[in-house]
Amino acid sequence: AEEPEITDFSFSFEGPFGRFDQSQLQRGLQVYTEVCSACHGLKFVTFRTLADPGGPALSEEAMRAFAAEHTVTDATTGEDRPATPTDHFPMSSLPNAPDLSLMAKARAGFHGPIGLGINQILFGMGGPEHIASIVNDFTGEEKEEAGVTLYGNHAFPGGWMAMAPPLSDDQVEYADGTPATVEQMGEDVAAFLMWTAEPHLMARKQAGLVAVLFLALLCVLLYFTNKKIWSPFK
Ligand code: HEM
Repeated sequence: AEEPEITDFSFSFEGPFGRFDQSQLQRGLQVYTEVCSACHGLKFVTFRTLADPGGPALSEEAMRAFAAEHTVTDATTGEDRPATPTDHFPMSSLPNAPDLSLMAKARAGFHGPIGLGINQILFGMGGPEHIASIVNDFTGEEKEEAGVTLYGNHAFPGGWMAMAPPLSDDQVEYADGTPATVEQMGEDVAAFLMWTAEPHLMARKQAGLVAVLFLALLCVLLYFTNKKIWSPFK
């Protein structure tokens, strides 16, 4: 089968200074909710994290209201009730649709050359690019195999997948007025799924940056200390 072709979208959270774009995460949550959640689940994500800083950062009220739109079966009473902030998003409702909680970290979009992984150093792992490319790169072809309809997709390994193109232009209406093109919705939902897979990405990048700056400073100080200690002998 042909190699999947992954587009190198540029996301705001790339690079050492990268940050999630809060409005984009909120738009992605909307796309997930209105489109993808019909089949896919997010079973590792709790509703309360939607209000965490560094994520979609919904207000406490909006997050509670969003949770309450979902019904869960209470583990103790066995009865159905509206979800509360500590509940998880539902599991995939379509059994063969994979859970999307960790998809952005479970897939690599970029490989090679010749198994060296240099593309990943240059372009990143490509998890969110894998997601955005898949929803964008349907060929329009269909075929039937063992009773299953498969859809041609340049970005999916093997070139055929069991998911029909889920997005079409203007499928959602964004509150912030962003035009809802397929490409825009694909990037937004991929960014949101990067957040579900790596909710502390911003804190992690910041800690890394502080560590590098600290080590650089320490390096300079040690250089001069070393010079001073050895100066009588040179
Ligand atoms: C597979 C994303 C909507 C059904 C996938 C994969 C991604 C994805 C990234 C590939 C996972 C992998 O690499 O293994 C999305 C997004 C959606 C969406 C972002 C919303 C915009 C839907 C909907 C349905 C669906 C509405 C059902 C009608 C499936 C199925 C697969 C799949 C059955 C498995 C395909 C296969 O393994 O051949 N989805 N999906 N998806 N999706 Fe979706």
